[in-house]
Order: sequence, then C-alpha cells, then structure tokens
Amino acid sequence: MNLVVVGIQWGDEGKGKIIDVLADRVDILVRYQGGNNAGHTVVANGREFVFHLIPSGLLHRGKIGLIGNGVVVDPEALLKEMAQLRARGVNVRRAVKISDQAHVIMPYHKRLDLAEEGSRPGRIGTTGRGIGPCYVDKAARSGIRIAELCHPERFAEKLRRNVKDKNRLLQVLYREQPFDYQDLLTRYRAYGKQLAPHVVNSARFLFEAMAKGRRILFEGAQGTMLDVDFGTYPYVTSSNASAGGVCTGAGVPPTAVDRILGVVKAYTTRVGEGPLPTEFPPALMARIRRKGQEFGATTGRPRRCGWFDAVVARQAVRLNGCHAVAVTKLDVLDDMPEIKICVAYRWKGTRLTEVPADTGLLLECQPVYETVPGWRSDTGEVGRFEDLPAAARRYLRRLAHLMGVPICLVSTGLQREQAFTTDHWDLFREGRERRRRPRAAPRLPAGRRGASA
Ligand code: GDP
Ligand code: IMO
Ligand code: MG
Repeated sequence: MNLVVVGIQWGDEGKGKIIDVLADRVDILVRYQGGNNAGHTVVANGREFVFHLIPSGLLHRGKIGLIGNGVVVDPEALLKEMAQLRARGVNVRRAVKISDQAHVIMPYHKRLDLAEEGSRPGRIGTTGRGIGPCYVDKAARSGIRIAELCHPERFAEKLRRNVKDKNRLLQVLYREQPFDYQDLLTRYRAYGKQLAPHVVNSARFLFEAMAKGRRILFEGAQGTMLDVDFGTYPYVTSSNASAGGVCTGAGVPPTAVDRILGVVKAYTTRVGEGPLPTEFPPALMARIRRKGQEFGATTGRPRRCGWFDAVVARQAVRLNGCHAVAVTKLDVLDDMPEIKICVAYRWKGTRLTEVPADTGLLLECQPVYETVPGWRSDTGEVGRFEDLPAAARRYLRRLAHLMGVPICLVSTGLQREQAFTTDHWDLFREGRERRRRPRAAPRLPAGRRGASA
C-alpha cells in the first residue's frame, strides 16, 4: 500500500512523528516538495532528531529515503544532515537517494530571500532558506538542477550566467554585496562530487520499485494552508504542499497512491505572518506554547497558537482527499477546563464556512466558536481510544464529525510509543488497497529512441 502523509493546517502538525510511527510499514519514503524550510521532529529512544530535507523514517533500519524532483535542495544543508544521520548509525550511502531533476538552492537564493523579505511592505516571515527564490528560478527556467551540479562543465556555464544576473539584482535593487563566481564554483563542484553517488533518475527508481511491489510513503512538508495555490496566499510557501503535489513532485502517476493520511494538531499553530483566525490571547498563547513546546524546529521562532479551526481542517481534508486523519498533541490540552472549536467565520454579519480566497478578507474574519468541556487529566499514558477520558473522546468525535473524516491515529506525547490507532485504522491495513502494479515500460525500437516532435 502506498501512502501519502500530509499536513492539513499550517505545518508542524507532527508529521515527522507520525511518519516515524508508520515507517516500518513501508520500504521507501519520499519527499516531494519544499526544502530545508521543513523541520520534522522524531523522538526515538529518548533522543531527538530533526529531519529537514531527508524523509523522516530513516531512523528505522533498511529504509530508503528519496528526495524527489519537486524538492529544492541546499547541498550544504543536505550534506550536514547526512553527516548527522551517519553519526546516528544510519547507512547513509545506501539509504539516501536524490533526484537528478531536483533544483539546487544556491547562496544567492538565500540572500535574495532575506533581501526580498526586508523590502516587502508586508513581510511573509519566510524561513530565509532560499526556498522561494529557488522555485522562482525553476519556473523562470534558469535554475540549476542536481544533474547539472554533478556535471563540472555544464555547472560552470549555468552558474556563470546565474551569478551574473543575481549579482546585478542584488547590487542594483538591494544594495547588497555581489557573489564571487570562482568561490561558488569551487565549493559547489565539491558538493556535487559528494552528492553524486546518491543521485538517481527518481521517476524511474520509483517505477521500478513499485513494479517489485515495494511500498512507498510520500511525505508532505509544510501544510495545506501553506500550499502556494490553496493556502492563505501570499502567506504561503512556494510549492504544492498538498497531496496533489505528489505526482509532479515525485514523478508517479495518480494511480500510484492508495491512501491519504492527513495529520492535524488538536489545536492550531503557524509560524510567520498571515491570518490565523483562532489565535489565542497572550496569556493562553504563552501557556499552550510552553506546554506544547511550540518553537519552530527549523528557525526556533515561537509559533503562534490558536484553537482548532474546523473550517481550515475540513477544507484541507476535502482538498487532499484524506481517507482518515491522525490527531497529534492531544495531551497539550490536558489541563484546559474548556476548549473552543472554530466552526465558522463571521465577516461583517455574514457567516462563512469556507476559507475565503481573498486573504485580506480572511484577516477581517472573526471565528465562530462552540465550547466543549475539557477533561483535566493526563492522556500521555493512554494506549487505547476507549481509555481516553470521556470528554477527550467527545472532543475527538466532534473534530472528526466537523472534518467529515474518521480519526485513525491519536498521539498524546512526543515519544514514539505515545500514539495509538483507533478502529478506523482498518482503512490502512495491507490488502485493503486495489492492487495494481505498473506494467513494464514499452521498449522503443532502436531508431526511434529519444525521438521527439
Ligand atoms: P512536523 O513539521 O509536522 O513534522 O512537526 P514538528 O516536528 O515541526 O513539530 C511537532 C512538535 O511536536 C515536535 O517537537 C514533536 O516532537 C512534537 N510532538 C509530536 N507529536 C506530539 C504529541 O502528540 N504530543 C506532544 N506533546 N508533542 C508532540
Ligand atoms: P514543516 O514541514 C511551518 C512557513 C514560514 C513562512 C512561510 C514561507 O516543518 O511543517 P518559506 O521559507 O517556505 O518561503 O516560508 O512558510 N513555513 C513553515 N511553517 N512548518 C514548516 O514546515 C514550514 N515551512 C515553511 O514560516 O511563514
Ligand atoms: Mg515542522
């Protein structure tokens, strides 16, 4: 069974932890978009590991982690992450694969990211990792791909053009220092050399893996509300974080996906600027932030926190076609006397049940809440849905009803063991999917191979 795990809020839903819990069910884990703006935390045997570019799940033995063509790769960050994984005993040489079609984040992308943020009238609050400018180059068809990074001459040629253009932009528009072409060339050629043994034709790699019956987990980074099309634009990231991004970002057909699992926090957070209709008042914000340790796993910035927003979650569940969702961080609400759930928005006397496309309008919306009792007891040790306090079960059932999707997994702590499945887990049992294997690729007669229109 091939599975997509996708965040259905503004990122940091706990995808890393859920993927780590599920990793033993699959053979290959694939990132399909984003870059090292992501921070996916896994706590295993009391030790924390934060994945940024490499798919979460590689702390399990024998897994392959593939960085798909839709990802933007900072070679420096990737090599550092590989070294950290190696130090944890992972056979990185075997386990990490990189698509030859993925785009490369260069230092000028990072500088441009910061410069653009500094000059915008309304900041986005990006992670400063060069993600947006790298995707801009990809769409502008001037970007450098991994295949070229690994080819010294072609890299030199592409880099020369890019450095010339970017230096002009940086100097004229932002009054920044230029980059030295020769310095970048030497450093990045060396990175290309180090990464080369990991580079694969990823679409082909996945096609062959599926033909052998290997099971794949596609790992979403960020969340649906940060999706460049469906999120709270322009306060979004620059890729398709939702499940739709899997096909173009990994190079697999839609028919390769059997199940889609949404991951959602029992409340809401976001990092950076942009609307967050259910944002807590300061005292409650401080309390939940402390209890939930809501600080960015990539930048360390404090996350903004708020009540569960069912308008957002319902829309994201529908958009991703989630078969079920995993609810995380239920334990963070353990000592709340009462809990609010946002069921709609009010805008100038009108009730809205969809997230409006006009983000300016969303910024003016007030949440419509219903209030439910809290459970005021510790859920960290609970191992079965039936053993949760009655009010916690009622809360989860209410969320499921409002989202229109069953809850198949509940997480009540950051440790690997602090999670349990519900009866709806059945949806994800092996054998429940329609089995289909891709047919072997047709062989072209020699003369026509590579022919194009
Ligand atoms: P991701 O980006 O979606 O993978 O999420 P992050 O790793 O950025 O943020 C989630 C944070 O919550 C991490 O620090 C996790 O260790 C932690 N976490 C995950 N699940 C739970 C949970 O059920 N309870 C608590 N208290 N912490 C959790
Ligand atoms: P994971 O995968 C939360 C946010 C940034 C900013 C916006 C654009 O850990 O859930 P970017 O650097 O991508 O151009 O920033 O997106 N953002 C995230 N917020 N979790 C993430 O990843 C994020 N990745 C980017 O804070 O608001
Ligand atoms: Mg994160």
